[in-house]
Amino acid sequence: MSVRLAEFEYVRRLVRERIGIALGDDHAYLVESRLAPMARDQGCGSVAEFIGLLMAGRRDELQVQVAEALATHETSFFRDPALFDALGADVLPELLARRGEATLWSAACSTGQEPLSLSMLAAMRFPELAKDRVRIIASDVSHETLARAKRARFGQLEMNRGLPASQLVRWFVRQGTEWQARPEILERIEWRLFNLIGSFEQAPHVDVVLLRNVLIYFEEATRRRILKAMHRCLAADGWLFLGAAEMPGGADGLFRLERRGNVSAWRPI
Ligand SMILES: C[S@@+](CC[C@H](N)C(=O)[O-])C[C@H]1O[C@@H](n2cnc3c(N)ncnc32)[C@H](O)[C@@H]1O
Repeated sequence: MSVRLAEFEYVRRLVRERIGIALGDDHAYLVESRLAPMARDQGCGSVAEFIGLLMAGRRDELQVQVAEALATHETSFFRDPALFDALGADVLPELLARRGEATLWSAACSTGQEPLSLSMLAAMRFPELAKDRVRIIASDVSHETLARAKRARFGQLEMNRGLPASQLVRWFVRQGTEWQARPEILERIEWRLFNLIGSFEQAPHVDVVLLRNVLIYFEEATRRRILKAMHRCLAADGWLFLGAAEMPGGADGLFRLERRGNVSAWRPI
């Protein structure tokens, strides 16, 4: 039995309310494929039956898992290399020259490749600098994804995506078929569960925000709210980086665009 409109609409509303992601009309296939393993785990004969179970009563933990299962966690090491070039060549040296330290926030860090890339960059670019001079906060809304990020263990296929062999052996140790990040690059990372559509009361105050490849999943009004909140989190001379192809509506009056090397950075106004 495949998912009917009422069930799809229920899941669509749940995902939107819990994590802000707006599923399109054509995403019923995604609901089927992503929820199939959870339906099996719950002993349901179909995804439709599983959604019926959710609709019948308050299954809070299961609802969270459903929302998280429908997010896209695609990421890789040094994704968009031009960004890391600009950070290493311009942004970090400028910040460190000005105040001797910098705090970076990877605000939708997925399985951790982004904050680990930042940490490797800091270690390579400023080998003499004490670790606490460049701090990295790494957050995501997904419990499971964040747990994987904290473990910092990756399979060979994940390692092959974006990580040069010389850095692989320098910053990771082989453990069976996987690679474990060394303590040196983990020490400066602080992991947090953080929902971008929730309250920003506990949000950090930082110099650089990486908010990449996540705003695309939200509606215009949600994007604007998040950009406003990020503006408050950023130092006046701070930097916001979005994904390579992202040009969000909603930044006007808050940020201006500045080119650094081959990337566009958003600077607070
Ligand atoms: C496509 S990944 C991007 C990862 C990384 N920033 C990159 O560009 O490679 C999107 C991430 O956003 C997270 N996400 C989705 N909705 C979120 C929300 N409301 N708050 C925080 N993170 C969210 C997902 O869990 C997922 O890990």
